[in-house]
Amino acid sequence: MSCAEPAASCTVGEAATEIGRFAGTTSEAQGWTNEPVGELVRRHFNSVTSQNELKWGRLVRSPGVYDFAHADETVAFAQQHGLRMRGHVLFWHRLNGPPAWLDAELDTGDPEARLRELIREHAHAVVGRYKGRIHTWDVVNEPLAILSDHVDPESIFFQTFARYEDFLDLAFQSAREADPEAKLFLNEIFASVSQASFDGLYALVRGMIERGTPIDGVGFQGHFILSLPEREQLQERLQAFADLGLIVEITELDVSISLLTDSSNPLAAQAEVYRDVFAACHAVSACAGITTWNSHDGATWLDRDAGFAPLGPHAPTLFDEELQPKPSYTAARDALLRPDG
Ligand code: XIL
Repeated sequence: MSCAEPAASCTVGEAATEIGRFAGTTSEAQGWTNEPVGELVRRHFNSVTSQNELKWGRLVRSPGVYDFAHADETVAFAQQHGLRMRGHVLFWHRLNGPPAWLDAELDTGDPEARLRELIREHAHAVVGRYKGRIHTWDVVNEPLAILSDHVDPESIFFQTFARYEDFLDLAFQSAREADPEAKLFLNEIFASVSQASFDGLYALVRGMIERGTPIDGVGFQGHFILSLPEREQLQERLQAFADLGLIVEITELDVSISLLTDSSNPLAAQAEVYRDVFAACHAVSACAGITTWNSHDGATWLDRDAGFAPLGPHAPTLFDEELQPKPSYTAARDALLRPDG
């Protein structure tokens, strides 16, 4: 029976599979695959993204010493249950993205040369290890300064490279060498809600394409914590990258109810936002899928992040703290089956 038939009861992952897309969520702390949340993820989704365990800072606690245990657990789980695996993230300068030892390692006569070496080694070690098993990689995360159209001057990568283009190109080329089949993404945080971020991202990506940099896709994270998206605009922005010949994805979706407290029914209002985002992706044929950041409200990073926690509680996901589906779950699934319904 097709998921779209009235009597059918499909999960959001089954609905996505039926239309050739991905509906995913994140992994959790080590051991997560054996916990109830592991069961929830494999039952409801057809894709999973590593939340923290593939970040450079997490994989490599001291130079050259890799600990793949947690990442291996997540990748094996994805493989065992037929989930598409999104690798997040090779190079990110914020929060737990960069290794603590990186500054000291670059304290040499020629920091750019040293960083080039480290980038090549890291991409080969990680992308190479999971070759054929990690289907899609966020190669570089959040190149832009927050809500602006220029690369982040606080980034250790852009501070070290004389030309920002050289960092982007080297990161993508190294990942391509390590796994020629993997889909390589540039991922950005506020391009769906900020015109400056969208413009900046578009300019970066166009430049990469013109230079022949091996980029396959653009990720719109979709953390709706400062403002809400507008469906048509989101669709247009996704389509703009699709028109450059790229895949697009919503890679880190969460919708904070703190933005919806004026509504008489915040959970219903949240469901409408989910419906709009899923419908916008559905309407763009190059939109490969949507990943929610954290599988349930009890695990949301927003209630733990020093900057965002004070604005909460956020309750931003598809499942509540008891792992029960919320109105947003039904809305998301139905938007994949009946986008205009
Ligand atoms: C967050 C994780 O969810 C947290 O557990 C961690 O403490 C910090 O990073 N944008 C990204 C993600 O690309 O890597 C971030 O994930 C959320 C913002």
